Amino acid sequence: MKSPFKADILRGKVALLTGGGSGIGFEIATQFGKHGASVAIMGRRIDVLHSAVSTLQSFGIPAVGFEGDVRKKEDAKRVVDSTVKHFGKIDILVNAAAGNFLVSSEDLSPNGFRTVMDIDSVGTFTMCHEALVYLKKGGPGRSSSTGGTILNISATLHYTASWYQIHVSAAKAAVDAITRNLALEWGTDYDIRVNGIAPGPIGDTAGISKLAPEEINSKAREYMPLYKLGEKWDIAMAAVYLASDAGKYINGTTLVVDGGLWLSHPRHLPKEAVKQLSRVVERKSKAAPVGIPTSKL
Ligand code: COA
Repeated sequence: MKSPFKADILRGKVALLTGGGSGIGFEIATQFGKHGASVAIMGRRIDVLHSAVSTLQSFGIPAVGFEGDVRKKEDAKRVVDSTVKHFGKIDILVNAAAGNFLVSSEDLSPNGFRTVMDIDSVGTFTMCHEALVYLKKGGPGRSSSTGGTILNISATLHYTASWYQIHVSAAKAAVDAITRNLALEWGTDYDIRVNGIAPGPIGDTAGISKLAPEEINSKAREYMPLYKLGEKWDIAMAAVYLASDAGKYINGTTLVVDGGLWLSHPRHLPKEAVKQLSRVVERKSKAAPVGIPTSKL
């Protein structure tokens, strides 16, 4: 699908993306590149990284891949430093690396819980912490008068509660807290904008095939009025918007990109029934003098 943004909206920017070798992270890397940015992608699987970098380069995007695990501080530091060594600076950090699986709280071991917290929450903080020196206004390689920007990929699971996702709900709630607190502290001190994106179910991703196989998807369509799958492109466009100067006054927000899905509830009454019911109730209340209980009417 064609981007509605100008192709040079991110010209001259350097982006580092964790989890950038596949899924949503890769689509953001691709769209950043197509809008003028140079991209460094970080991931654990070297073969996935190689193929992602070749694809990006085949689009004419300056791209490089660095193997690393966001759970390891030394990997985070090495990848951040290598990105700056390769491209001279970092303007945009995207934390898209995540771990997930469906499991009931009863069956989830504390180590399973910790593993997802470590990847999603601690990993996000570690990457932000290592990149800070390069993102802050006046930091190494920064010629512009502003600081860089951070995008944290979150979720909507924790706005309510989600079956068999206690670990991810807790981890993404922490990610949102990181987004707001860094926006406050680093926005004030270093002119760095920190925002998040909370995707709904996105087709053709590891997340959707792991968490919502086809039989769940078709059931969800029956009872959730707003249920429909998004595309990786939808998330990437939100990322381009937030990372570009179009988002220069946006700081500390997590943008929900889910077609309104998290607001969904089953419809208990059809719209026509509500209209009729409402008219009857209104007529009754107009006829009734104030203070007389409706049971007496
Ligand atoms: N159900 C229950 N527990 C699970 C699990 C599952 N499906 N998968 C892993 N765990 C538990 C393990 O049992 C282990 O706990 P234990 O030591 O108490 O037994 C703990 O999690 C760590 O598992 P391990 O396999 O050593 O972790 P890992 O670092 O190799 O893998 C994961 C990390 C678990 C997140 C893995 O699913 C992963 O890397 N996935 C790829 C990324 C991804 O999930 N992307 C989707 C994004 S939506």
